[in-house]
Amino acid sequence: MKLQNKVAFVTGAGQGMGQAIVRRFVAEGAKVVAADINLASLKDGLADLGDSVLPVECNVGDSASVSAAMAATEQHFGRLDIVVNNAGVGGLDSFLETPDESWQRVIGVNLTGTFFCAREGAKLMIKGGQGGSIINLSSTSALTGEGPNHYCASKAGVMGLTRGIARELASQGIRVNTLVPGPTNTPMMAGIPDEMMKDLLKGVPLGRLCEVDEIAAVAVFLACEDSSFMTGQNVAVNGGMSFI
Ligand SMILES: NC(=O)c1ccc[n+]([C@@H]2O[C@H](COP(=O)([O-])OP(=O)(O)OC[C@H]3O[C@@H](n4cnc5c(N)ncnc54)[C@H](O)[C@@H]3O)[C@@H](O)[C@H]2O)c1
Repeated sequence: MKLQNKVAFVTGAGQGMGQAIVRRFVAEGAKVVAADINLASLKDGLADLGDSVLPVECNVGDSASVSAAMAATEQHFGRLDIVVNNAGVGGLDSFLETPDESWQRVIGVNLTGTFFCAREGAKLMIKGGQGGSIINLSSTSALTGEGPNHYCASKAGVMGLTRGIARELASQGIRVNTLVPGPTNTPMMAGIPDEMMKDLLKGVPLGRLCEVDEIAAVAVFLACEDSSFMTGQNVAVNGGMSFI
């Protein structure tokens, strides 16, 4: 049990990687605040985990919503040790046809949402005085450029944000790292056309999609003491698709 007595806040927890991370964290002994904009998905997907999980409706792109979710975390569990900024949105816009609203939405959830949750989560960790671990989900798209413009920009921004806050929070014992998945078998990938998927997999030396449990295992590693001297790093889980 690598996360015994720890409290984690996981965003985008209703499905895909977020749900797998919640399940793995609970298996490792953690209590988890499962935050998602879709409350029904949390209730359907995580009901079997009982009191170990507090489902909270939260729009990570809205600072008031994030503050309310952090207040609920403090009230319910009394502390915070781990934040996983997993909530993310994509899109298939070509650059020249990208509507302003689409740019704002993707940057607003993926980058600004990560900023809000990291900032408010770090405040709670500092109050607890025991340090902590913040894990920000980026994407291999930010390294290769294989993805829509706003998505690549938001995920590259997450890498920069991680490095900037890792330096600032180190003196408080808070580590901050970026988990960089490659193409992974989740509902987010369901909308990718078959031909595009075939091309995508040609670029993955291990020749398949990543499974969500393979992401969750690395999230546990970054959350627990096994990674105690790592901060500000990009940790890629992408079947060799790119080298950081
Ligand atoms: N699936 C992939 O191939 C892949 C590859 C690289 C990176 N990623 C990144 O990994 C993360 C998880 O991806 P996934 O495939 O599991 O996604 P997903 O689409 O399956 O699930 C995302 C979850 O985030 C929630 N969400 C969306 N907007 C939100 C908001 N504003 N506030 C709170 N919750 C919100 C959704 O309701 C959903 O439950 C994302 O950040 C994604 O960009 C995914």
